[in-house]
Amino acid sequence: MAVKGPVSASNSLNDKRLLPLSAKKSPVGALFFYSAAMEGRSASGLFCFIQPFGMGESMEGKPVSASAIDDQVVEVFPNDLNPHGTLFGGRLMQVVDNLAAIVAKRHSGRVCVTLGIDSVRFLNPARHGDILVCKASVNKTWRTSMEIGVKVIAEDFRTLEQKDILSAYFTFVAMDEENKPIEIVSVIPETSEQHARYKAAEKRRQHRLTQR
Ligand SMILES: CC(C)(COP(=O)(O)OP(=O)(O)OC[C@H]1O[C@@H](n2cnc3c(N)ncnc32)[C@H](O)[C@@H]1OP(=O)(O)O)[C@@H](O)C(=O)NCCC(=O)NCCS
Repeated sequence: MAVKGPVSASNSLNDKRLLPLSAKKSPVGALFFYSAAMEGRSASGLFCFIQPFGMGESMEGKPVSASAIDDQVVEVFPNDLNPHGTLFGGRLMQVVDNLAAIVAKRHSGRVCVTLGIDSVRFLNPARHGDILVCKASVNKTWRTSMEIGVKVIAEDFRTLEQKDILSAYFTFVAMDEENKPIEIVSVIPETSEQHARYKAAEKRRQHRLTQR
């Protein structure tokens, strides 16, 4: 299991546990250790902090950067491949659903459920040995729901050539202790890119709501 560049850890897509996160942005909260140690692997970096609501955050807003995952890497192993020798799409969806859920939890400080996934595009095939670089962040929040944008890039470790692999939008709803949707803190876009995503997310939501 190789650690690359600024990223906290890397995983096989076959791992059943949640993916590790860099803990750089979340100062306090529950500490989760995953099952790496039990699997006989190094647990280095295999943890994340999820900041509960009300610990240093106000209801006014939280910046996109506070919950975003910028550069989570995952290596493609032989058992991640379909019979054509390319990455199995379902495996990748499992990974990105986990990542998006972690972003949703970090943002809201709540248990979050996936309400929907849309605009899923498998843009290029990934192959054995590719390093996948995953990015996920909150595009926009509403009262109890939020849109998380996910993007995956594959990097050829020999040439460092990159290609887009996947993009998708996840809608998550934050839940209270009685499994009812609960109000969440607003997200604050800071960069011009984040502002553009924020604006575009509203249009997508309107479209989704017409399909209810
Ligand atoms: C998520 C769930 C609680 C929503 O239930 P619901 O009865 O639609 O609840 P609400 O009407 O209060 O809607 C909750 C939020 O979802 C939003 N929503 C509902 N349908 C939507 C749609 N089609 N598109 C976008 N947003 C939608 C609502 O607008 C609301 O968000 P807001 O408060 O920010 O406006 C419910 O559908 C559920 O439990 N689904 C199963 C989730 C699950 O098991 N996921 C897989 C495993 S994690």
